Amino acid sequence: MNAPSGLPELAGWASYKRLLGYTKAYWKLFALAVVGFVINAQTQWAGANLLKYIIEAIQAGDQSAKNLFPLMIIGLFVVRGIGSFIGTYYMAMVARNVVYKLRMELFSKLLTLPTSYYHLHSSGHISAKLIYNVEQVTGAATEALKTIVREGAVAIGLLSYLFYTNWRLSLSLLIVGPFAALLVRVASKRFRKLSKRVQHAMGDLNHISGEAIGGYQVVKTHGGEIFEHGRFNRASLENLKQSMKVVVTSAISTPLVQILMASAMAAVIWIALQPSITGNISPGEFVAYITAAGMLAAPVRSLTDVNEKLQRGIAAAQSVFEVLDEQSEQDLGTRSAQNLRGEVEFRQVNFTYDGKTPVLKDFSLLIKPGQTVAIVGRSGSGKTTLVNLLPRFYEAQSGQVLIDGHPVHDYPLTEMRQQIAMVGQKVFLFDDTVAANIAYGAFRDQPREAVIEAAKTAFAHDFIKDLPAGYDTLVGQDGMQLSGGQRQRLAIARAVLKNAPILILDEATSALDNESEFFIQAALERVMQNRTTLVIAHRLSTIENADWIVVMDKGRIVEQGRHADLLAADGMYAQLHSRDFAEESADEPLA
Ligand SMILES: Nc1ncnc2c1ncn2[C@@H]1O[C@H](COP(=O)(O)OP(=O)(O)OP(=O)(O)O)[C@@H](O)[C@H]1O
Ligand SMILES: [Mg+2]
Repeated sequence: MNAPSGLPELAGWASYKRLLGYTKAYWKLFALAVVGFVINAQTQWAGANLLKYIIEAIQAGDQSAKNLFPLMIIGLFVVRGIGSFIGTYYMAMVARNVVYKLRMELFSKLLTLPTSYYHLHSSGHISAKLIYNVEQVTGAATEALKTIVREGAVAIGLLSYLFYTNWRLSLSLLIVGPFAALLVRVASKRFRKLSKRVQHAMGDLNHISGEAIGGYQVVKTHGGEIFEHGRFNRASLENLKQSMKVVVTSAISTPLVQILMASAMAAVIWIALQPSITGNISPGEFVAYITAAGMLAAPVRSLTDVNEKLQRGIAAAQSVFEVLDEQSEQDLGTRSAQNLRGEVEFRQVNFTYDGKTPVLKDFSLLIKPGQTVAIVGRSGSGKTTLVNLLPRFYEAQSGQVLIDGHPVHDYPLTEMRQQIAMVGQKVFLFDDTVAANIAYGAFRDQPREAVIEAAKTAFAHDFIKDLPAGYDTLVGQDGMQLSGGQRQRLAIARAVLKNAPILILDEATSALDNESEFFIQAALERVMQNRTTLVIAHRLSTIENADWIVVMDKGRIVEQGRHADLLAADGMYAQLHSRDFAEESADEPLA
């Protein structure tokens, strides 16, 4: 939320109103729950009133009234049970639905957030929001809401009864109201502040454990155990510390409110016991009054107790709303992206990640449909950045990126991305079967034959065939059960199945053995046919066969042309070539 931080109270209230807004769709269920709790509440003061009834019956010696008493008690509890069930059931239904809606909304939002969001926020913190924070909202929505409605109804019922019985006497109870309100207000602010810290600590825990688990190899080989242990310990201690502060705040505020209540009660009893007042009240009335007033302590206690949960939920809701209010990827294009020819153009593109360091400078390049353009250059020269602009993972600050002569913004985002197949520098595989990894997402329903065909093109069929369950073999988290070369070929098969007019290959630099290298090279050559291909190349043969080679340095094109011409020019390309490809050239003589 973007509420000014100087107004935390207002922000808290606004967040709560927004959270309540989610219950609107379920107002009928909510109303039922309230009816249930109101019924339940009536049985409280009715219980006190029963005492009056029996005392008066005893005094009057009315046997038939006395005989009715046990039945009345059972009846009272039956009604209380029914009311309580209806209230609890429907309130939980509302609350659980709100949490479901909130969680789904948060996840949907995450899927539409721009790449930069994922770069700026750790996956550990993001998933902690989805899992932990949303669950905290449940606390506010279920427990707190239930308590507020139920105990609130009880308190109002009892107060009404007290005022009805003797309003003058009852007025003294209200004197403590403002003090209690002030106390609760101060405590609420503190609860919210502490809860935010606890939630942040949870995100840290999630983040650190994720890194320690995901990077277990580095941790093990670099003796990172002690460092990770210390890091996790600090976050855990922070969690402990802040949680204890919450407990202390709660443990102080509840008794304080209780003491206030007790003082009021004492005052009421003292006044009630003054002969001038006692004289006007019957013993039955007096007992019922004192009992009802005493009963008030329980709901007040529950209400102050639940405040902590409520504030924790509000703090969690605020963190969820923060994400919901993030800017989604802009998607305003209307031009149809079907049947593109696949012409790609960068026109005077300037780009920077941080607003300061330029990464692409005045970059212009036109790629005709069906051409293969190789991009080479030193590490960090901006090659990956350049190709990431095409599917709009990032937006150029100035200049234009065009497909078929129209800015990429003119096309609907999903449709435009359908036209681009991408094999990235880092392959990502899902913890699913081989087939599901090739036919992922919108291609989920492709027939098995198509999947096999794609695998054959990618030179992956042979190794897949030999896996324990063939195409139905599970690959493990991020394909951990496959070799590096196999993972790459699966990624290529995924791109082949997509059959898009534009192909982007960001070759991995990792050294592969000769056989994998050969297969991947052969796979790439097949895939590049009949498509516009932008290949960030490290393999000699890919480059040699390219229609055009672009040499990048510090975000600019420093040289371009065909392989032989560039070599002859004896510039940066020749330099890169002799350095980077010396090894390969040895066993693959140049033409
Ligand atoms: N998400 C990011 N946020 C900020 N800076 C980035 C980001 N990604 C890359 N950079 C910076 O942008 C510059 C270009 O990076 P890029 O990944 O495009 O290089 P590259 O040419 O693909 O290098 P390599 O050959 O090593 O893959 C680098 O200086 C890098 O530090
Ligand atoms: Mg790169």
